[in-house]
Amino acid sequence: MPKRPRGRPGADEDDEAVIEWVGSPVLQEGGNKFFRAFALDGRPSDPVAVGDTVSFRVAAGHKDVNPDRREWLGRVARLWEDAYGECWLQVAWLYFPEETPTGRLPSHLPGEVFLSAHLDANTIDAVERRVELSSVPDRLPCREAERASVRAFLEGGVRAGTAKSSLYLSGMPGTGKTATVREVLAGLRASAAAGELAPFDEVWVNALALSHPHQLYSTVWRALTTRNAAPARAAQLLEARFSAPSAGRRAVVLVVDELDCLVTRKQTVLYNLLDWPSRRHARLVVVGIANTMDLPERMLPRVHSRLGLARVVFQPYTRDQIRDIVCDRLSGLSVFRSDAVEMAARKVAALSGDVRRALHICRRAAELAAERAQGSVAGAGADAAEGGRGAAGKQAAGGGQDGTVRISDVQAAARELSATRHATALRGCGLWERVLVVALVLHLRAAGASDGVLPAVHRRLCTLLRSHVGLSGAKLPTLAEAGEMAGRLGDTRLLLLDNSKSSRWPTLRLGMQPDDVIFALREDSLLSKMLD
Ligand SMILES: Nc1ncnc2c1ncn2[C@@H]1O[C@H](COP(=O)(O)OP(=O)(O)O)[C@@H](O)[C@H]1O
Ligand SMILES: [Mg+2]
Repeated sequence: MPKRPRGRPGADEDDEAVIEWVGSPVLQEGGNKFFRAFALDGRPSDPVAVGDTVSFRVAAGHKDVNPDRREWLGRVARLWEDAYGECWLQVAWLYFPEETPTGRLPSHLPGEVFLSAHLDANTIDAVERRVELSSVPDRLPCREAERASVRAFLEGGVRAGTAKSSLYLSGMPGTGKTATVREVLAGLRASAAAGELAPFDEVWVNALALSHPHQLYSTVWRALTTRNAAPARAAQLLEARFSAPSAGRRAVVLVVDELDCLVTRKQTVLYNLLDWPSRRHARLVVVGIANTMDLPERMLPRVHSRLGLARVVFQPYTRDQIRDIVCDRLSGLSVFRSDAVEMAARKVAALSGDVRRALHICRRAAELAAERAQGSVAGAGADAAEGGRGAAGKQAAGGGQDGTVRISDVQAAARELSATRHATALRGCGLWERVLVVALVLHLRAAGASDGVLPAVHRRLCTLLRSHVGLSGAKLPTLAEAGEMAGRLGDTRLLLLDNSKSSRWPTLRLGMQPDDVIFALREDSLLSKMLD
């Protein structure tokens, strides 16, 4: 088994990530404070917790990095901050089949990785992102129709050894596209193993992991032949392979996930990919998965013409569907009261419709309920430490402290996760934008209203900048500039903009609780002074 070198991988030194701990320390020892989770700046999605998997970006030339992946994966074992304020994590490395002594074997699954006992410590700023592993649940309720379409297409393709068109799947993130294709492929693999279907090969490419769209050619070529070739050469070799007869060659299912990343100015990569199946001897079935709904519309006409044929759109889940999915995933866990699941579904459906968020809320709610149950066993002192949450729990409990997850736990979990997300986003904004949010908070407080018109908020913004920053005259933002800032804040949902009123300027509302703004900016001495 190869060894990862000690210390930090070659992460870019200059893009400093802002790290934020989630929750209070779970342990203090020898000058170190240990935590359970952290949030990475600019990634307002899920916090990264102990037990999660993260990827490290590694410089392309690094001798130990697999050129297809350019990343290392590790499972988080500990998180801590040392006496100097440096933030650390310890991971157990995960290895790709290519990195094992046998190399990749036909029996290895496309996304398979191996957990090692090899532990290393790194500073957290080397972490690239959180990775979902084993993300294919056994069942995917509410996607029966989509799955049937994908299955029919792939099965037909594998039987015929080719498909005249490519299949294009689109939908918002978290709507189950990747999981559906993986599930269908697993089913086809089982059929092939049972002799009901001709054996076929699979190539799964995540375009996010390619250093450049053209890298797709090299990656596909290597997957098909285990040989290396530079992108331009690989493109020629693939073209030749798909055009020359070769008796008895197995059909290949090529899935390109995160297809959006392949978009280039001339669209050649996308065009070639979708065009390959139409070659006489291609024996190739192509599936593209995209997170943008309008990818085909943004494509050049010649690319578009390839896509009109087979397309499956994954609509966002409705509230009832989210509830069913979450119930299904939690089945066997009697600790969830049904109204608590209902609440999680409602909260998520109203915002993003992303099932992952609902599952995340439920996981955190279960932790809170467990903490509460433990606290009540440990005695009265724990409730005080839990603050208002313990009291709220008791009220809803009607006395029983058994760790059952209730509405109040789901509310607390949802609140906690969204406060963290908002706080991270807010701290990532420019100074003027943060002051604009403060100006809105002050305006709403003074007016006792829930929204304010832009010109009024702009006036307050200028007052704050004059008195606290010493700006004056032409240095102050114009009303139009304030409008642009509000637009940017609206994009991150820190503010909610209403343009429906007859006025030229939007009406602004806070996308979070005023208390969350105060909490998020508490360490910013300038802004917290403005809020006083
Ligand atoms: N219908 C479903 N049933 C069960 N779990 C689901 C369903 N849809 C999504 N999920 C969960 O959400 C996760 C994200 O789905 P994924 O397929 O990765 O979304 P996408 O590829 O559309 O972004 C899945 O791994 C799964 O845990
Ligand atoms: Mg996906």
